Amino acid sequence: MKGFRSALACAAATVLGAGLLAAQKGAGDVAKGKEVFEQCAVCHSPDTDEKKMGPSLKGLFKKAKMTNGKKPTDATVGAVIDAGGNGMPGYKDILSADERKHLMAYLKTL
Ligand code: HEC
Repeated sequence: MKGFRSALACAAATVLGAGLLAAQKGAGDVAKGKEVFEQCAVCHSPDTDEKKMGPSLKGLFKKAKMTNGKKPTDATVGAVIDAGGNGMPGYKDILSADERKHLMAYLKTL
């Protein structure tokens, strides 16, 4: 059991290390993305099917398509966030490149 535990700890450290490396390389940080999402949460539920001002974003990247008929990808979801429309503000000039990146990482966990 001891060996298993240390193997587990070692695996966890590897995952953590890889995570840090990814962050350095510029991958989005989910925790920071969640903070950025607070300004979206007034209009979007991240974890229930409830429709607020905008549609629920629960399982966004697992959906076959968004309201605009496009398959959710970095590009198509990013375009909605940048441009907004139909009651959604555009975030092109509001979010920094880093905030947007963290936000996208968070959205993928929904
Ligand atoms: C003032 C309310 C409001 C805010 C704030 C807002 N949205 Fe929206 N959002 C909407 C509305 C309304 C729609 C639906 C637009 C349509 O039907 O074309 C929408 C649509 C979307 C969609 C497309 C969903 C789909 O399934 O079609 C995404 C993705 C999205 N918003 C993400 C965000 C993110 C990320 C933020 C924060 C940076 C945000 N929104 C902030 C109102 C808002």
